[in-house]
Amino acid sequence: MTDSFTSTDPTPAESSPPAPATDGFGATDHADTDLLRARIADVLTTARARTAALTDAVDESDLVAQHSPLMSPLVWDLAHIGNQEELWLVRDVGGREAVRADIDELYDAFKHARANRPALPLLDPAQARGYAGTVREKVWDVLERNPLRGGPLIEGGFAFGMIAQHEQQHDETMLATHQLRAGEPVLAAPPAPAARIGIAGEVIVPGGEFLMGTSADPWALDNERPAHPVHVPAFAIDAAPVTNEQYLAFVDDGGYRRPELWSERGWEHRTSAGLTAPQFWERDSDGRWWRRVFGAITPLRPRQPVVHVCWFEAEAFARWAGKRLPTEAEWEKAARFDPATGTSRRYPWGEADPDESKANLGQRHLEPAEVGAYPAGASPTGAHQMIGDVWEWTSSGFDPYPGFRAFPYREYSEVFFGGDYRVLRGGSFGTDQVACRGTFRNWDHPIRRQIFAGFRPARDLGADER
Ligand code: AVJ
Ligand code: FE
Repeated sequence: MTDSFTSTDPTPAESSPPAPATDGFGATDHADTDLLRARIADVLTTARARTAALTDAVDESDLVAQHSPLMSPLVWDLAHIGNQEELWLVRDVGGREAVRADIDELYDAFKHARANRPALPLLDPAQARGYAGTVREKVWDVLERNPLRGGPLIEGGFAFGMIAQHEQQHDETMLATHQLRAGEPVLAAPPAPAARIGIAGEVIVPGGEFLMGTSADPWALDNERPAHPVHVPAFAIDAAPVTNEQYLAFVDDGGYRRPELWSERGWEHRTSAGLTAPQFWERDSDGRWWRRVFGAITPLRPRQPVVHVCWFEAEAFARWAGKRLPTEAEWEKAARFDPATGTSRRYPWGEADPDESKANLGQRHLEPAEVGAYPAGASPTGAHQMIGDVWEWTSSGFDPYPGFRAFPYREYSEVFFGGDYRVLRGGSFGTDQVACRGTFRNWDHPIRRQIFAGFRPARDLGADER
């Protein structure tokens, strides 16, 4: 694993995070804890505002309707968000009485498949809103009294960060439900930025060891841990995600009619599902392409990353282009590895939190931004828009890192390891920054298209390029 390294090579490391809170005893201790409390209040408030925006945008009948068998009714997500918060923050961290122990079973994602959720005796919209609000009131009290130290669940505010991420993950899922919903547009946002610079071609990532995953990030989830060295040979990866224009060239070149471009399973799926273009694309009688985006029909914007393609489509495009999908380790190395220091960054641009100059996150725009829109967000090796815009399919299955330990519950990650999933990286325009970083791992079945997923191809280097 370390064969390319001589004994003088630096040990790969995580770059130093911003000055950490003191470990106790110091005069700044209380101030640090107050800052952490304020940050927790901020991320929980941001998440709830988004949950409210997504659920207030439609009427009651819409909230209880099933817009696709792939998705829960929005009112299920709403009460499930409250229930997870109750389980972890009110009962476990807070040690308080249950608010509604009788509904745990209804909102346990493992007890009822999404397709069956509308038939359950769910809380109605007013009850679900009231329930989530009651839980949140108790959480404010728990937060105020909790020392935020003294055990792994609360150290660094972990459980609060986990619950903010959980709500935001469901907010992205609810946004996908909105995209599947028929009817007039009900969500609005400013258009995503246009290109500021031209981006084309590939970047070359040097070979050798890098540190994958994290042990230092206090809110990293169990599957991102621990940091561990991985040897990744030199490779090339596209400097940006595949655009609509590039994808259209594949469609126009008969990409969906040529079995030799697809894996056996991929072709079987493309045939049985009748795939002919990305989901939500429509061609008019003049041959022009349009895209349905949250109920609005808009012309296909050529320089935006393609979105709503499944893993099999990504795989076929890559083969057509003479490339392949990157492994998860390659993706992370292209996003985080700084060859100048040998360290792995939290984000492509460094340790600083994302802002609107660096990445398209947080449902600020309801579409991916054009390739070249975020020059300030590039990685040290020159890869653009690895964070935000579209989730990126990798070739890798979802497996634990060496030294993985399920925390705090097996059902977040462990029960999915080794299943028929592919890892996605980098977050989308629908992902909040609290649930997005260079180490964050998402996963889904290779046939799924309703998620905000695109991809960027990679390839091995030729002998003359190494
Ligand atoms: C990590 C996005 C695959 O939504 O299924 C939400 C996140 N886990 N509630 C999902 C999650 C429990 C999960 N993904
Ligand atoms: Fe959940």
